[in-house]
Amino acid sequence: MNYNSEFRRSIDKPEEFWREKAGDIEWIQPPGAIWKATDNGHGHWFPDATLNTSDVALDANVRAGRGNQKALIYDSPVTGTKCSYTYTELTNEVARFAGALAAQGVSKGDVVIIYMPMIPEAAIAMLACARIGAIHSVVFGGFAAHELAVRINDAQPKAVITASCGIEVAKVIEYKPLVDKAIEQASHKPDFCVVYQRPQVKAQMQDGRDHDWSDLMATAEPVEPVPVKATDPLYVLYTSGTTGKPKGVVRDNGGHAVALKYSMKLVYDANPGDVFWAASDVGWVVGHSYIVYAPLFAGCTTILYEGKPVRTPDAGAFWRVVQEHNVNLLFTAPTAFRAVRKEDPEADQLSRYDISSLRSIYLAGERLDPPTYDWLREHTQLPILDHWWQTETGWAICCNPVGIETMPTKPGSATFPSPGYNVQVVDTRGSHVPAGEQGQIAVKLPLPPGCLVTVWGDDQRFQSSYLNLIPGFYTSGDGGYVDEDGYIFVMGRTDDVINVAGHRLSTGEMEEVVASHPAIAECCVVGAQDDMKGQIPLGLVLVKDGATIDHDELEEELVEMVREKIGAIACFRRALVVDRLPKTRSGKILRRVIRQIADGEEYAIPSTIDDPAILEEISEQLRR
Ligand code: COA
Ligand code: AMP
Repeated sequence: MNYNSEFRRSIDKPEEFWREKAGDIEWIQPPGAIWKATDNGHGHWFPDATLNTSDVALDANVRAGRGNQKALIYDSPVTGTKCSYTYTELTNEVARFAGALAAQGVSKGDVVIIYMPMIPEAAIAMLACARIGAIHSVVFGGFAAHELAVRINDAQPKAVITASCGIEVAKVIEYKPLVDKAIEQASHKPDFCVVYQRPQVKAQMQDGRDHDWSDLMATAEPVEPVPVKATDPLYVLYTSGTTGKPKGVVRDNGGHAVALKYSMKLVYDANPGDVFWAASDVGWVVGHSYIVYAPLFAGCTTILYEGKPVRTPDAGAFWRVVQEHNVNLLFTAPTAFRAVRKEDPEADQLSRYDISSLRSIYLAGERLDPPTYDWLREHTQLPILDHWWQTETGWAICCNPVGIETMPTKPGSATFPSPGYNVQVVDTRGSHVPAGEQGQIAVKLPLPPGCLVTVWGDDQRFQSSYLNLIPGFYTSGDGGYVDEDGYIFVMGRTDDVINVAGHRLSTGEMEEVVASHPAIAECCVVGAQDDMKGQIPLGLVLVKDGATIDHDELEEELVEMVREKIGAIACFRRALVVDRLPKTRSGKILRRVIRQIADGEEYAIPSTIDDPAILEEISEQLRR
């Protein structure tokens, strides 16, 4: 089999192609029909099939004789804990927690929010929801109470599952007060909460609403997986859009299982028994797909790591985990290795460990900058494989298809479209742009299985954000080009989404927070280049006439407001007071030019600018 014939078949005969791939998972009712178009311009994969995602991930592996194989290894340098679960043990834990949720009244179609640190119970909670057909919505633990409240209002959960605390290097962050505050702020009130008490902090419980995880587990009866339709939602995962309101990406059960199982071979060349480590967080899509679901679908051992690439305790942390657990495939964001390289430029730490189990290193989440690629290549001598994807797609849109045919890599390129993705570089009208020229990267519909099927509670937004911008295409929001050999180069977002340390954030959302300060007349937030985090937000603010606040004090207040409303994860640390904002004559803020000035790049003075002198003034202020 070669990549070209596989790719062509996926585009020319998608139903035949995906029927074949659907044969790789265990269904309750296997698909008869493969695709059904819907009137939202998209459609459903496997419309008449049924399955259970936790059965595919767990019970199917036990039935296949992998019951005694490790399914999940938990490695937590921040607490000094390591433990593992075999497939049989993980199945039992999940079945029991599913029983606990069911006993509290959670059933098929109910939403459950999971706000947890990187502990096995987070994965158990996700799989338990899947087992009873409930829809989980994991909220990243680094988000503040307000962000959690926004998601509670949108998702309308029946329950919230949390832990008493998370641990950030040496800092203990109490989660329960954040959950209490979020529920207080939200207009929707969940029926109950489940709290996993960690030894570091004992959370205060609210009588009648909060249940201790261990108490529920002590009396729970394990339950069998319930059949759900392939088209039923498995989860909602909120991601930043261009407005202040995050979008709830909805993923179905059937397409997700088929696509992720296929991706494990195609993208990662993973086999049952391999040890797969995605060094990310369950709160992000990488964590959903490649810490929890895909490695289990493929019968691998997955690693759940509660630590950082550095400072837990040093820049050898990743290599230590690889050696200790015989990791075969490692996946993380480039920023993690930029942090390692900064602290250990000559990779001295690497020489302390035996990483011979490792076959390849995978990177995604942001552009893989050539210096990071070169450093990794030089010091590990391993294939360093860039792949491009998004929360919306759930698996790689572009990759080096090493499970089928290994292609020569080109630094800066995520290689070729994954089979199923008809990727095209187009202008705003949908016409092709020639090789080498930049345009919008779009995917001709239909999207393959595993991609978002709608935006939670707002199908109109799904259409307007992704499908209507260029009719017949899914618009990715990323710009880039295809070279003469067909390699795809993703150069960055064309909207107001920024990528801070591999975390996707909305500058629009930060602007809403900054603008709510009583002294601010107007503001804009752009993503400025940062050596380690890729991008960091930079605010430019205009103070109201008559406001007398000291500028340093104002900056401190704005930084605190963004921390309080969005979370420390936003890394909003700079707000510069300016006299005016550069605008077009029609009043549109010239964000691109501001970004170029902040990055010290050459910029062309736009012909539409109302007052060119302002650019030099801002440049001057940023230099100070
Ligand atoms: N809960 C609570 N707070 C969190 C958090 C969590 N789960 N994750 C991060 N934070 C906080 C941090 O403590 C920090 O707070 P501070 O400003 O008070 O110090 C802030 O959010 C920023 O965190 P982070 O971006 O992680 O910066 P850092 O300087 O601590 O670490 C890196 C830098 C590069 C080591 C780190 O960002 C990293 O490991 N990145 C990889 C990201 C990744 O895996 N992305 C997933 C895509 S594959
Ligand atoms: P998220 O939805 O958080 O996974 O972020 C998705 C965004 O990250 C994409 O739209 C891109 O802007 C960026 N991204 C992800 N992977 C890559 C990659 N390999 N190269 C360049 N950008 C990437």
